[in-house]
Amino acid sequence: MKIIVANWKMNGDLELVAKFIKEINLVRTENTVVVCPPAALITSFSDFRYHIGAQNCSCEDCGAFTGENSPKLLKSLGCRYVIIGHSERRTLFNETNESVYKKWEAIVRNGMSPIVCIGETSEERSSWKETISNQLKPFIGKQIDSTIVAYEPVWSIGTGQIPEISEITDVLTFVRDLLKTNTKLLYGGSVNSKNAPSILNNADGVLVGGASLKSAEFSKIIQGAD
Ligand code: PGA
Repeated sequence: MKIIVANWKMNGDLELVAKFIKEINLVRTENTVVVCPPAALITSFSDFRYHIGAQNCSCEDCGAFTGENSPKLLKSLGCRYVIIGHSERRTLFNETNESVYKKWEAIVRNGMSPIVCIGETSEERSSWKETISNQLKPFIGKQIDSTIVAYEPVWSIGTGQIPEISEITDVLTFVRDLLKTNTKLLYGGSVNSKNAPSILNNADGVLVGGASLKSAEFSKIIQGAD
């Protein structure tokens, strides 16, 4: 069973949602498909055949936190998954390994599955083990069966460059050894319908950014996972 996650980032509108639902609802798969649109679009996915997730959430269930989205509310809107620790959140919004862990606790507390993003920058490429160990440190020894980890090398996101498949498997093996659980391990970063099949042969799934905004391309990625 593979997991195919669409991360729309801050893209999309009601028109794209309608087109996406119409086209992706025609695709049949036994694999898990999740779309993570901007929070304001979540409720417009009520007719979607597959799962909905969020791209971020607060670590608090409610209160005076202007502009934040509560995990409790996201759950009540039908979200099953929440992406946390995406590199864009880490670099542009100062998310730290500690704040990612607090969000993780809130997501689990509210009965959803966290998708924890990890990955090294291009400067850290030769010392990726250190970066990834630090990012995962809060989770080691914890009960994280419902958690999904997405390895997304920062230098690969939106650049069209992907690591060699052997490099991806080296990192996923390292993560598996570190966490010592059956956590599902995804790869993300410049995934498209051409490279997805070989990545999916070596990972539990993919996290797809840009290519998930084109429903024809995203359909092909889903179909290639069967
Ligand atoms: P990309 O983004 O597929 O556009 O590289 C992936 C991500 O940031 O999750």
